[in-house]
Amino acid sequence: MRGFMRTALATAAVVLSAPVWAEGSTQDEIARYREMLAEGNPAELLEAKGEELWKKPRGPRNVSLERCDLGLGPGQVQGAYARLPRYFADTRQVMDVESRLVHCMVTLQGFTREEATRNWYSRPGKDSDIEALVTYIGGQSNGVAIDVPARHPEEARMARIGELIFYRRSGPQDFSCAICHGQEGKRIRLQELGKLTTRAGAGTAMANWPSYRVSQGAVWTMQRRLIDCMRQARWPEPEYLSDSVIALETFLQKTASGTVMQTPGIKR
Ligand code: HEC
Repeated sequence: MRGFMRTALATAAVVLSAPVWAEGSTQDEIARYREMLAEGNPAELLEAKGEELWKKPRGPRNVSLERCDLGLGPGQVQGAYARLPRYFADTRQVMDVESRLVHCMVTLQGFTREEATRNWYSRPGKDSDIEALVTYIGGQSNGVAIDVPARHPEEARMARIGELIFYRRSGPQDFSCAICHGQEGKRIRLQELGKLTTRAGAGTAMANWPSYRVSQGAVWTMQRRLIDCMRQARWPEPEYLSDSVIALETFLQKTASGTVMQTPGIKR
């Protein structure tokens, strides 16, 4: 087993640090995509749909989400995303935008948790209300600096747990988040990974989520991004809205604090 681990690690090290010759052309292509899409990010349609969903009476109780408290008081959407995750006294939990949104869909609109989260991400032929709503909520923080100081003891605890998870090596390949995201200029094949442990690096990454992913043809929320990265680390996939994901988000948002949000972004 130890031998296997060593081989796996050595292989990973080679894959992660090998120079990649074809990269120029793909980087150009990505830049071209960005230019193309900057004219009209497909996510803007979703943002408009999210606003509609937010304001429309829905669910068994036939009420809108306009009284939802995302942390700045009922109905206050502007600037809310930039200050999440945060501690909520009513649930006694640190919640991110998605867990809070689901909480509102359940407590205000009367959906079951299962109903609210069934399509938490879109698939061909299946739209996701959550994706649309989060895109709308994210857009309402444009121009606002991320501000997650994690001063409340529960927030500080979550940020600390997130940091521990970020650096902890585990799984069959002994990967950590830091192996891929702990250094400047690291890339897998053609993709730049981003150093997420500095304000500049975390800021660049976090300020543009939710983002339209050109490679996926869909908007991804931060939950989806992180769950997919845990899969890339070959870790067991956490459930949607798990504390481990919220802890990582708290750590990353805290590190990114001060960076001005601009969403929906466009990513590879
Ligand atoms: C095997 C390498 C690998 C591991 C391990 C990994 N990631 Fe990633 N991560 C990627 C790749 C690849 C991307 C997408 C880069 C792209 O498409 O431009 C990415 C993207 C991201 C992004 C978005 C960055 C941006 O600029 O928008 C975040 C945030 C992130 N990862 C966090 C994490 C966290 C937290 C962990 C640990 C649970 C982790 N990653 C583990 C490879 C990895």
